[in-house]
Amino acid sequence: MRKLMAANWKMYKTSTEATATIEKLSTLLGGSAPAGREVLIFAPFTALEAAATAMRTFHNGSVGAQNMYPAEEGAFTGEISPAMIKSCGASWVLAGHSERRHLLGENDDFIGRKLRFALEKNLNVMLCVGETLEERERGELPIVLERQITLALAGVTAEALPHLALAYEPVWAIGTGRTAEMDDIQEAHSLLKSLVKKHFGKDCKVPILYGGSVKAENASAILALDNVDGVLVGGASLQAESFTKIVTA
Ligand code: PGA
Repeated sequence: MRKLMAANWKMYKTSTEATATIEKLSTLLGGSAPAGREVLIFAPFTALEAAATAMRTFHNGSVGAQNMYPAEEGAFTGEISPAMIKSCGASWVLAGHSERRHLLGENDDFIGRKLRFALEKNLNVMLCVGETLEERERGELPIVLERQITLALAGVTAEALPHLALAYEPVWAIGTGRTAEMDDIQEAHSLLKSLVKKHFGKDCKVPILYGGSVKAENASAILALDNVDGVLVGGASLQAESFTKIVTA
């Protein structure tokens, strides 16, 4: 399976900075990701169009939004629709990122609504799941992942499979510099693989990415693990140089 090398820029970068970063990334990578890999950048809304335009010069890259609202249009102050995202040239959207779950109060039902609406509107969706430190210490990893996957994917059929990716991001490893141990990553990814199989009733090719303090130093070991089909990178994706090292790791 192809490996997705995804950058989550969070609330960083103006459109000018986004263009400069992608142009630099493209120069450093010689205009394309290594064979079998794809670059994906989740840019802030205000930089989406600039990022998508800059990405056109790159051979195998695409751009996504970090959030959206599950409605066509309407009185939803501050929100963004799938059509608005697509009109910027973006083709992906994140759903269920832990910062939106824990800082912005999104629950599993709302995340599921967003995921289904995004798929219906022909966006590709990367669903993020992961446990908090307290949940992990209580031994609840399997329950938490099952709840997050089941509620987010409720009603989603196999037809959506080519447009779906998952990211396992343990909350305690995001932005903390603390990467999960290789065994922890392996365990969570095989749990996710079996949950996806249970949901769709067959083995399916949904890429499962790992995210949480991925950097140039640990990327190749993580990418070599079974059932790890890419990485979702926050802090280390902001500089073209460090993200290039990860993309080529
Ligand atoms: P990090 O963020 O790489 O800075 O830990 C990952 C993410 O939040 O997607």
